Amino acid sequence: MNELQTSALLKKYDVPTPRYTSYPTVPTWDVEQFNIVQWKQIVRQCFDESNGGKGISIYIHLPFCESLCTYCACNTRITKNHAVEVPYIQALLKEWEEYKKIFGSKPVVRELHLGGGTPTFFDVKNLRWLITELFHGVEIHPDFEFSFEGHPNNTTVDHLKSLFDLGFRRVSFGVQDLDEKVQRTIHRIQPFENLERVTNYARAIGYKSVSFDLIYGLPFQNPFTVSDTIDKILSLKPDRLSFYSYAHVPWLRPGQRGYGDGDLPSNFLKRHLYEIGRYKLCKAGYADIGMDHFALPGDDLFKASVAGRLHRNFMGYTTTQTDLLIGLGVSAISDAHYAYGQNLKKLEQYLTAMKAGDSTINKGHILSEEDLLNKQCILQISCKGELDGDLFSRSVDDRTRELLLEMEQEGILYLSNDSLKITPAGEPFVRNICRVFDRRMDRIEFQSETFSKSI
Ligand SMILES: C[S@@+](CC[C@H](N)C(=O)[O-])C[C@H]1O[C@@H](n2cnc3c(N)ncnc32)[C@H](O)[C@@H]1O
Ligand code: SF4
Repeated sequence: MNELQTSALLKKYDVPTPRYTSYPTVPTWDVEQFNIVQWKQIVRQCFDESNGGKGISIYIHLPFCESLCTYCACNTRITKNHAVEVPYIQALLKEWEEYKKIFGSKPVVRELHLGGGTPTFFDVKNLRWLITELFHGVEIHPDFEFSFEGHPNNTTVDHLKSLFDLGFRRVSFGVQDLDEKVQRTIHRIQPFENLERVTNYARAIGYKSVSFDLIYGLPFQNPFTVSDTIDKILSLKPDRLSFYSYAHVPWLRPGQRGYGDGDLPSNFLKRHLYEIGRYKLCKAGYADIGMDHFALPGDDLFKASVAGRLHRNFMGYTTTQTDLLIGLGVSAISDAHYAYGQNLKKLEQYLTAMKAGDSTINKGHILSEEDLLNKQCILQISCKGELDGDLFSRSVDDRTRELLLEMEQEGILYLSNDSLKITPAGEPFVRNICRVFDRRMDRIEFQSETFSKSI
C-alpha cells in the first residue's frame, strides 16, 4: 500500500469508534430493560456455571491520584488527603460481601487486578488490609494471576514487596512519554530515573512481568521524541508494553482543554508515530499482539496469543478467560457474560449508596442472543485478527458482506467464502473492522462526541 492510499484510509476510518473492551459498548446499553433483581440472578447463574473450573475475576477501581495528568481519560479523584483511603476500602469490602451473599458458596478467585486512578496512592498497610479481607472466605485458583497498576513516582519498595507477598506477580507502570516538553504539557513530570528505580526493584523482588503504558498522539510528540522515548524504554526491557492511541475527549475530560487541537499531531503523523514505535519494538524482539499491545516471547501474553488463548475484557487483553468479572468500586463495570452492570460514577454517590445498604449498580445491559453472537465475533477479531467459519456463517449478512468486500478491496482484510483475516496493512483499522459487527451502534443515533476517534 503506498502513502497516498494509506493517507486516504486514515482519513476515511479516523471516525469516532469504540475500543471494544466490551460488547455491547456502554453508550449502546439498553438500560431500560435492566433491573437489579435480574442482574443478581444472572450473576448467580454465571457464578454457578464458572466458579468451579475457570474461577472468577475481580477488578478493583482505586480512583485517587495526588495530581491530575491533564491527558487522562480515567475515572479519577484528585486529592492529597489520604484520609479518603479507609472509608473507601470499607465500602469496597462491603460491596464484596454483598456479592458473596449472591454467590452463596465460596468463590474461587483466578484473576485480580487493581486499577485506577492510582493504586499506589494507597498506604501499603491499607492495601494489605484490603487484599487480606478480600481473600477471607475465598479460595485461590491454582493458576491465579494478580496484577496492579503502579505510578513510577509513588510506587515504593514496600508496595512492591507487600503486594508480591500477597501473590501479585505482574505490575504495569504508567510511562506515557519521557520527553520533557510533552511531560510538562500533560502535567506529568516523571523522570526516567523513577521508572528505572521501580523497574529494578520489581525485578529484584521477583515480579515475573513488568509492563509499561506508553501513549502516541500526545501534544508536542514528534518522530524524534517518540523515538527517543522508545530507546530509553528499551534499555529497561519491559516484558510487555501497551502503546495506546491517545483518546482525545475534551468534552468529557476538561483537563484535555489545557492544550489546543493545534498542539496535537495530525492523524497521519499520529499513525506515523505509532509505526516508529512499532518498528523499534519489533526490531528489539517484541511481538505485536494486536490493538496496540506488545510482548517479549517469554511473556505469557505472547504465549497466549500464539496458542490462540488471548482474551479481552474491561482490563484490556488478558491471558486468563473467566466468564464472571466482578468490578468493585466507583464506576467499575462487572461482566456476567449474559449481562453487564456498572457502578455509580460519582465517588460520593457510590459511598452513600454503600453506606445506606443500597445497590451501587447504576445501570446495565442484558445481552440478547444477537448481542452474544456479535460479542463473540468482536472478541475473535480483536484477539485473533480473524473470524472463523462458524462465526462467519452465523453472523455475516448481505449488509456486512458488502462492507467487508469494500474493506477487502482497500487491502484491510482477506475474505473467503466463510472467513476473514486482517492483513498487516489492516492492523490500524481493527476497531473499524469490529465496528462492522456492532449492530447496536447501527441502530442508535450518536452524537459524534460519544467515542474517541479510531486512529
Ligand atoms: C489508570 S492509568 C495508570 C496508572 C497510574 N495512575 C499512572 O498514571 O501511572 C491507566 C493507563 O490508561 C492510559 N490512559 C489514560 N488516559 C488515556 C487517554 N486519554 N488516551 C489513551 N490512554 C490513556 C495511560 O496509558 C495510563 O497509564
Ligand atoms: S494518568 Fe494515572 S496518575 Fe495521572 S490522572 Fe490518570 S490515573 Fe491519575
